[in-house]
Amino acid sequence: MNQIDANAQIESDCLIADVKHHLHPVTNPQTLEKLGPILAGDAEGVYVRLNGEKLIDGLSGLGCVNVGYGNEKLCRAAYTEMKRLSFSHGFVGQTSKTVAQLSEKLAKLTNYDFDKFFFASTGSDANESAVKLAYYYWRLKGQPKRKVLLSREYAYHGNTVLATALTGIEHYHFQFDLPLANLVTRVEAPYAYRCGVGLTSTEYVRKLAESLEEKIREIGPENVAAFFVEPVQGAGGLIMPPRGYLQAVQEICNRHGVLLIADEVVTGFGKTGSMFAYQHYQFKPDIITMAKGITSSYYPLSAVGLSQKVTDVLSTANEEFVHGFTNSGHPVAAAVALANIEVIEENRLLDNVKNAIEPALRRGMEKLAKHPAVGEARSIGVMAALDFCHGNSLAEQTAFCEKVALEAFARGLVTRPMDPVLGLLFPLISTAAEIDESMTILESAINAAML
Ligand SMILES: Cc1ncc(COP(=O)(O)O)c(C=O)c1O
Repeated sequence: MNQIDANAQIESDCLIADVKHHLHPVTNPQTLEKLGPILAGDAEGVYVRLNGEKLIDGLSGLGCVNVGYGNEKLCRAAYTEMKRLSFSHGFVGQTSKTVAQLSEKLAKLTNYDFDKFFFASTGSDANESAVKLAYYYWRLKGQPKRKVLLSREYAYHGNTVLATALTGIEHYHFQFDLPLANLVTRVEAPYAYRCGVGLTSTEYVRKLAESLEEKIREIGPENVAAFFVEPVQGAGGLIMPPRGYLQAVQEICNRHGVLLIADEVVTGFGKTGSMFAYQHYQFKPDIITMAKGITSSYYPLSAVGLSQKVTDVLSTANEEFVHGFTNSGHPVAAAVALANIEVIEENRLLDNVKNAIEPALRRGMEKLAKHPAVGEARSIGVMAALDFCHGNSLAEQTAFCEKVALEAFARGLVTRPMDPVLGLLFPLISTAAEIDESMTILESAINAAML
């Protein structure tokens, strides 16, 4: 057997083993059995090889590979730190050089809007940690009854039990009888295209603000701990807030003493063209959560950032904060994050988003918006969404969207269908030419799906 045949045999054996022994997340086992797994091969820059085909990764993995694949600096940082100190943690005051440096760097990146950081591994456990920090804050403030969490329809906050409960997409709930009764209350999402029909942007923001305030009054502000918002709602369909919405939310939360928690697991580290989306939208959350782009997912890491309003209260405690994970403060994760941030800064990737990606994406979306199958095309930074109107029901529009995604895949572009919305989250290193090529592929994919 020559080397090529031997490699093909290994791949084929792996795929059989995978179907037999790997329980995949969010995968229908019968479809997997029928079609087999999609094998990720090698990846470089904005390109990934899937089932042997080289594609533009218009999704950056799962909205996480911000600096693109195969970056030498990140790989070296991981190797070097792993060799020096393969593990350390944050319990009972232990730390490491890279974790201390990363904490300071994150404070600087946020202009000290957040001055202390708690580390975890995933977006879900960052959000779980944010809930416990909010509860602890209220306990120290002498208001332990504040336990209700507010989140929004179409929200996605992760997949642990509590993060699923915070999530506002039914699909994630029904198999587990979530959300937990009384702990999470959902309010409307700022989804103008589908939920704000007939209203001007100002009227819609007013309506959303009034219904949020009504809900807080109904529950009683003295019972509400925090309101979770993704500045741009990701998995719910890349829903971009109308101007003034996030400021209105902040004003209401401040008025009722409710902590505002920005989930920037997707939007953090450059997706809007600013380092964080709260900076782009100019509002001030009390707590921020981040993951994915913090290391471009070369290594699992997440963080919860706390504003001084919160740390001032936490620092009054003369006791342990009884929460933490084995990997809270992993030195290798921190080294990779520092290298990742250096790559974003040294290569001026935020400028690339603003000057190259965003204009190309806006041009492409403006053109696609005129397509009869497209109800709304929206974009900001590296994120774009096509909200389809082809078909008379949501189910038909969803089926159409899935067809477009398959056609785009066949033409060399990875996208993400989210019910009737096709989502794109390009790596920050993408060129205008790569965005233009992706837009051409999309147009052809939509036309093919209509046949
Ligand atoms: C906004 C948001 N929050 C939280 C999460 C959960 O992150 P993880 O999958 O790392 O747990 C995600 C994942 O996609 C997300 O998009």
